Amino acid sequence: MVTIQTTPFSDQKPGTSGLRKKTRVFMQPHYVENFVQAVFNTVREDLPEGFADQTLVVGGDGRFHNRVATQTILRMAAANGFGRVLVGRDCMLSTPAASAVIRRRGALGGLVLSASHNPGGIDADFGIKYNVRNGGPAPESITQRIYEHSLKIKEYVTLDQPDFDLKGEGTFRIDNSEVVIIDPLADYTAVFEELFDFESLRALFARGFRMQFDAMNAITGPYAHHILEELLGAAAGTVINGTPLEDFGGLHPDPNLAHAPELVAHMNAPDAPDLGAACDGDGDRNLILGRNFFVTPGDSLALIAEHAQTCIPGYRAGLAGVARSMPTSTAVDRVAQAMKVPCYETPTGWKFFGNLMDAGLCTICGEESFGTGSNHVREKDGLWAVLCWLSIMAATSKPVSEVVREHWQRFGRSYYQRHDYEGLELATATEIIEALRSKLTTLADASIAGSRIARADDFSYTDSTDGSVSAHQGIRILLEDGSRIVCRLSGTGTEGATLRLYVERYLKDGGEGAIEAVLAPLVQAAREVVDLRARLGRDEPTIIT
Ligand code: G1P
Ligand code: ZN
Repeated sequence: MVTIQTTPFSDQKPGTSGLRKKTRVFMQPHYVENFVQAVFNTVREDLPEGFADQTLVVGGDGRFHNRVATQTILRMAAANGFGRVLVGRDCMLSTPAASAVIRRRGALGGLVLSASHNPGGIDADFGIKYNVRNGGPAPESITQRIYEHSLKIKEYVTLDQPDFDLKGEGTFRIDNSEVVIIDPLADYTAVFEELFDFESLRALFARGFRMQFDAMNAITGPYAHHILEELLGAAAGTVINGTPLEDFGGLHPDPNLAHAPELVAHMNAPDAPDLGAACDGDGDRNLILGRNFFVTPGDSLALIAEHAQTCIPGYRAGLAGVARSMPTSTAVDRVAQAMKVPCYETPTGWKFFGNLMDAGLCTICGEESFGTGSNHVREKDGLWAVLCWLSIMAATSKPVSEVVREHWQRFGRSYYQRHDYEGLELATATEIIEALRSKLTTLADASIAGSRIARADDFSYTDSTDGSVSAHQGIRILLEDGSRIVCRLSGTGTEGATLRLYVERYLKDGGEGAIEAVLAPLVQAAREVVDLRARLGRDEPTIIT
């Protein structure tokens, strides 16, 4: 064991989803080590008896620097006295699988190496996220302490020993620690077998149901090959881009209409399969497509909540409640109302759902950013959403588009879009939010896009389970006709700033309106309120999802 002297980095403050930076930042000498030691120092404060009886889970999405960082963490975990470290074979674990392993193995927590849907490579992005005992991302109270530790760190401990061979299975013993290589698929698959009716899904594929799953050259390839093709009998070739690559083959592994063109083209072709789906870099996001049909994440969440009890054995007892992040469309609220279960509105980011689930208040939750999940783990789960949709298909024997249209008929439709303005100067973006905030009181009496403003505020969330308050979580302008405009800054970027503008218009019109036309007045009004043209010199966004 060796103790290495170090000096603090000033920028190790975790954001919406862990510490995320350019890969080269993480490649600086001591950078990973400082952060990991700051995590261990924080966690140890709550564990007077130390780490000897504790298990740590380590794995990542296979991107560039994943393997190097894993070796660093394994050496440091052993040197810091962890009794057991479970590491995914070849350093691999998808984000939801890491959550499943932490929960099933009773681990203290885990370090997940990923920058999610951000591109990978030496000139792209990398990240480290600490997850706690419930399998979910560390809450702000912990990430803040990690940051404070990172600012005063003087030394870290590690082992003077060569890399572990992580290609096979096996156990390494170092003094009182053991490093165990685990099958990254096993715990996750076991959770799915408990939740879903594999028999009926196998029968669906046996009836000739066809799907295409795009793993975007990222971590879900092996999971999808195993679960969809090997266990459920989907045809060989169902999974495309199924081998995890360090740079994701140059793709931007974010499953949306803009970044999954191959899948979208396939689903719009004359011989399209019944279902199209894709997951992001670390496997927690999902995109769901029917033939020539895009299911928005807000609708997907609402539909999964609507059908879970009748179509999926794991939810047969009903839902305790549902939750969505504030900017996410309100479609799920109406399902919750019809089902007479509570619907919680939380700030952006998955960590807020975990407390509700731990308290038994929420079963299914989701975000507009292509994330849906449930209390089976404490992360969003891309393949889980895919299996939910397969279950809906198996139970209804109807095309995706028809299932969604029936939902619109019954509940009405939330026409919804997110407009992102990327690559802004941080100062400009901050000024935009501040200017908007200072307008809030005058907005309260105004009318925009043909409707009076019912309420304009800066979203603040009080967690009902622990009383913690998260303020400044986004500006929202709620109109009397049920429309909404939301504006906030991204907390996951690694360069400059991204402004997100979310627009939603609710209509009970059967859902057949053209989305651009329906949203146009609201988009126009949003751009004017935010004063985009004056402040940015442009009002067209970088990307619409
Ligand atoms: C984005 C999404 C948010 C999601 C997060 C992590 O965060 O908007 O819903 O939880 O990525 O996947 P943002 O960049 O907006 O802070
Ligand atoms: Zn992700």
